[in-house]
Amino acid sequence: METPFRLMLWLSLLMCSTSPFALAIHHYKRWPVGGSTRFYDFKVQTMEVTKLCKSTNIVTINGIYPGPVLYAQEDDRVIVKVTNESPYNASIHWHGVRQRLSCWSDGPAYITQCPIQPGQTFTYEFTLYQQKGTLFYHAHISWLRATLHGSIVIYPKTGVPYPFPNPYEEHIIILGEWWSMNPIQLEQSTLASGGAAPPAEAFVINGHPGPLYNCSENDVYSIDAVPGKTYLLRLVNTALNTDHFFSIAGHKLTVVEADGEYTKPFTVDHLMLGPGQTANVLVKADQSMDKYQIAMGPYVTAKNLTFQNITSIAYFRYTGAGLTSMARPATLPFYNNSLVVNTNMDALRSLEVTNLPLQIDENLFFTIGLNVGQCNRQNPNMTCQGPNGGIFAASMNNISFTRPNVSLLQAYYNSVHGIYTADFPGLPMKMYDFVNGAPNNSPNDTNAIFGTRVKVLEYGAKVQLILQDTGTVTTESHPVHLHGYSFHVVGYGFGNYDPNTAKFNLVDPPLMNTINVPVSGWAAIRFIADNPGVWFMHCHIEVHLSWGLSMVFIVKNGDGPLESLPHPPSDLPSC
Ligand code: C2O
Repeated sequence: METPFRLMLWLSLLMCSTSPFALAIHHYKRWPVGGSTRFYDFKVQTMEVTKLCKSTNIVTINGIYPGPVLYAQEDDRVIVKVTNESPYNASIHWHGVRQRLSCWSDGPAYITQCPIQPGQTFTYEFTLYQQKGTLFYHAHISWLRATLHGSIVIYPKTGVPYPFPNPYEEHIIILGEWWSMNPIQLEQSTLASGGAAPPAEAFVINGHPGPLYNCSENDVYSIDAVPGKTYLLRLVNTALNTDHFFSIAGHKLTVVEADGEYTKPFTVDHLMLGPGQTANVLVKADQSMDKYQIAMGPYVTAKNLTFQNITSIAYFRYTGAGLTSMARPATLPFYNNSLVVNTNMDALRSLEVTNLPLQIDENLFFTIGLNVGQCNRQNPNMTCQGPNGGIFAASMNNISFTRPNVSLLQAYYNSVHGIYTADFPGLPMKMYDFVNGAPNNSPNDTNAIFGTRVKVLEYGAKVQLILQDTGTVTTESHPVHLHGYSFHVVGYGFGNYDPNTAKFNLVDPPLMNTINVPVSGWAAIRFIADNPGVWFMHCHIEVHLSWGLSMVFIVKNGDGPLESLPHPPSDLPSC
């Protein structure tokens, strides 16, 4: 029965491999066979939506907002044909999918591909090799992610149970932010202003602002709960610019998975997710028959930032509770309550640990933070609205990433010179008291260097990376996301990282794809660079990404079978 799938997988592997002979001997030991192939047809479309009493045209998939769910099982091959029927350039990233040997399908525009232009098609193909849980997809160009996103649900293989009691039902809960302005214009006007991004007009749960917002009493998401049953909620934070707290009135949340990896279960009242993070939580309907608020609100650590502070509400309503009754109010932590966040982090432990490197080949240390450049623009009142009349930027190791106009992966693959330089520093170029001693006389001393710099890693290198928050402009928690890998979060702490005092967890560190580096602190991550390609690493706060808080790893090919980047697909878009 499985023969056609096996055959297809074989064929696709043979076509991708640069070394079919070696492949035929070894590959079946390492690469799964037997997964199904799932086909999806995604049309990027615009659609008119009315929210907060304003009509606006949003960009989404197949006329659904949030977009359709992509369902699959562990080890499945996924083929998504994306046709761009919108007037904007598009590209889609499969956030958390490790894209083993399929870097061409990763999706960040100008990193692994040129955008899919209006009217064009590109087919993404990847294998969900050893992956399960909740992930999501989103546009990876300009700020189109605001409305172009949807969840990816990967079930375990047939016959393999969850490592927790089977829930009665499951629901997807996508935390988002709403603007009535076109997100491309929003990015352009923010960058043109030199200042901060305007706050979201609303926070939304599955696209609904809920009753605390204007005109939104009936624009609210609701879950019907049968008393006594346990629900699995698949939480996804796809918000553009804000971290978010989540809670349900009167109910505990038992976290069983984070970023698509099982965790040792732990129970909390509130959970914080940064943009780019996902979590599966179990909720038991064990309270009295009533209607309960589900709440989402901001976690903000930056100083002097204007943000939306109206809670988005959904309902968790017991069947049998009155339809019109007032919902019991949920509480959220105060907007800058880092204690709750740290308590979450402390509790987060992997259920099982595999491939944790203990010896390290590449010891990297990257500072992350904001910068302010001197005003060099016309009309400073309009264009230099950053601190002290400067222009906001952001950087890693004080290098602010300049997005190229062609795909870096193509430039690398075709050895095109002059697109990037391979000199991204493994350590800061200047050592100082990053958290407290930063020059606060911005803009004079906080300029970053601009450039498209990459860090090259040998195939198989065991990497440790310390991500250090800086107070150059303001200390702030940053959700840093790495493409192409999940990483073990072996440690985190406050102040400046000090190898002599830092405590590491080498027993059961969580495996994640997005780490919220603590405000005024650091996080230590480890991974083995065994997936060749060009991999973006960036802050998942969209405005920070636009300001340059990103860098790129190039992981070289190995010598063995299944260690080389395959040829590009023939329909790869051109710039
Ligand atoms: Cu979810 Cu590069 O992003």
